[in-house]
Amino acid sequence: MMLTDTFGREHNYLRISLTDVCNFRCLYCMPEDVSFMPSNQLMSHEEIKAIATEYVKLGVTKIRLTGGEPLVRKDADKIILSLSKLPIELTLTSNGFLVDKYIEVFKQAGIRSLNISLDTLDANKFFSITKRDNFQLVWNHIKLLIENGFHVKVNVVAMKGINENEINDFVALTKDLPLHIRFIEFMPFNGNHWQGANVLTYKEILEQVESKFSILKLKDEVHDTAKKFTAYNHVGTFAIISTITEPFCAGCNRMRLTADGKMKNCLFSSSESDILSAYRNGDDILPIIKSNLLSKFKERGGQFDEAYFSMKADEMQNRSMVKIGG
Ligand code: GTP
Ligand code: 5AD
Ligand code: SF4
Repeated sequence: MMLTDTFGREHNYLRISLTDVCNFRCLYCMPEDVSFMPSNQLMSHEEIKAIATEYVKLGVTKIRLTGGEPLVRKDADKIILSLSKLPIELTLTSNGFLVDKYIEVFKQAGIRSLNISLDTLDANKFFSITKRDNFQLVWNHIKLLIENGFHVKVNVVAMKGINENEINDFVALTKDLPLHIRFIEFMPFNGNHWQGANVLTYKEILEQVESKFSILKLKDEVHDTAKKFTAYNHVGTFAIISTITEPFCAGCNRMRLTADGKMKNCLFSSSESDILSAYRNGDDILPIIKSNLLSKFKERGGQFDEAYFSMKADEMQNRSMVKIGG
């Protein structure tokens, strides 16, 4: 069976947020006035497994766990191990703080690749972005993951006036380390103080890199969010996720479940379907999933116009990033 939307896009990738709690306070993700979801509103580990199993029946072959920070959840190990029994590629996106505690769990679950957020290589700037003094710890954990043979992608949210001067420092890391750096155009979500003027664009990032390195374009897959490159003679790669200036929605295969069990058919969808309540009522969730997907917009939840510059983050009909999971 296949989950196909009205634009003929087949959806086989599910992102599940395990919690809206996070141990960091990144300025582009968490609003200052955030309050966390009560635990009885969260999917339990049994519910996550049961609901994920229904998506797998509908053709899902890849599941990514997100947050908040997925690893702060007390039963994250149980969830990872139980989902690993499904016939899927399992992976996760984390801030890196707790990954050292989970190395064996990741190995047991057959996880081969992880995405870790790190927006700066400067410890003081790390503190000003995350409000936590953990640059060295996260960096050590990234190296630990590499030493343990994991494929590590580093997510760098590129923001003017914050880390725009570090683009080439990140690319330089890929000379000797098998790291996959992904620069992400800063995206608007409720409460994140986004401004069009702070978006460091795909084109600007590439111009910076080309001023210092000679680079090669790598081949991208249809469903990729990232446009991949490598600098000549580097062991790692770098890429740009250009949601704002060069959206990649034509190849979209993604669906999302929030920690409170609502399905979103797009990162920017304004509507959601309450899968968890239906499941708790004993209703069949398959028709709800299918009809949710049929309402998917062609691009970016139908919420962007070409003149992104004048958009206002708080006027978008969406959640804050910490409550979506990316
Ligand atoms: P892969 O599975 O490795 O391709 O990872 P990913 O890029 O899907 O996931 P990750 O959680 O590392 O997210 C990296 C950035 O891409 C974040 O800023 C996400 O919000 C963004 N992103 C992930 N999925 C989508 C998507 O479907 N659409 C858009 N526009 N952005 C996305
Ligand atoms: N714009 C772009 N990327 C973001 N992320 C979080 N908030 C934003 C935003 N406003 C990224 C982080 C994290 C991933 C899940 O989403 O880099 O790694
Ligand atoms: Fe898919 Fe929406 Fe992301 Fe576009 S913005 S790639 S439609 S999730």
